[in-house]
Amino acid sequence: MAWYDIFAKFYDVVLERVYREHRIQANTALNLTPGQTVVDIGCGTGASFAALVNSVGPNGRIIGIDTSAGMLRAAKKRVQRAGWTNIELVEIEPGGDKRVLAEIGEVDRVLCFLSLSVIKNWDEVLSDWFALLSSEGRMVIADVHHPRPNIYGRYVEFVSRGKLSRKSWEPLSELSSDFSLDWQPSSWVLGGRFFVAAGNRLLVDSKGHKE
Ligand SMILES: C[S@@+](CC[C@H](N)C(=O)[O-])C[C@H]1O[C@@H](n2cnc3c(N)ncnc32)[C@H](O)[C@@H]1O
Repeated sequence: MAWYDIFAKFYDVVLERVYREHRIQANTALNLTPGQTVVDIGCGTGASFAALVNSVGPNGRIIGIDTSAGMLRAAKKRVQRAGWTNIELVEIEPGGDKRVLAEIGEVDRVLCFLSLSVIKNWDEVLSDWFALLSSEGRMVIADVHHPRPNIYGRYVEFVSRGKLSRKSWEPLSELSSDFSLDWQPSSWVLGGRFFVAAGNRLLVDSKGHKE
């Protein structure tokens, strides 16, 4: 059994409260409007869904993608409990994004909450999903970073199977226009500093300048 299938059993108990405020911050950065389509990459147990549903409304569409059947089972329970009807859950193989990308088509927003620090081919995933954004599309990465994780950071890395030293905002800053990066103070509970990076799809004018 893969680690996240096991972690799914206690993930929300351990982490839901810890990240409550951070999720609000990420959702604000997404700047969603009713009716939009948002993809939640590495959606896990669906802890971000409530905020997303509130923002896109009943005519919006939420697509949660994950590699862990256990995390997706927890997400499905959450969706059923809440009675949400506009959330699709998609299980992929690691590295299997391309098939889903081809099926989904254009999306308005992409959220990566605590997932790019965990996903092995994170930079490929980032650029593939970014390319799927509509002309007014926007990607938000919310994650934890530490340049040299200390003992507690290494414990967080062990539990999350992630890499806190990854600078996942960097490719987004190159790909996007109107890039922003907000940092919170270092927290030993999180193992580093929480950040929210956001960027709009890069529009290039006829002279090749970023708009
Ligand atoms: C730390 S959890 C974050 C879950 C959720 N985004 C949250 O905010 O609570 C990381 C998630 O990434 C998923 N994951 C790992 N590799 C993945 C991949 N290649 N594609 C999609 N999801 C992946 C894991 O199964 C896990 O659910």
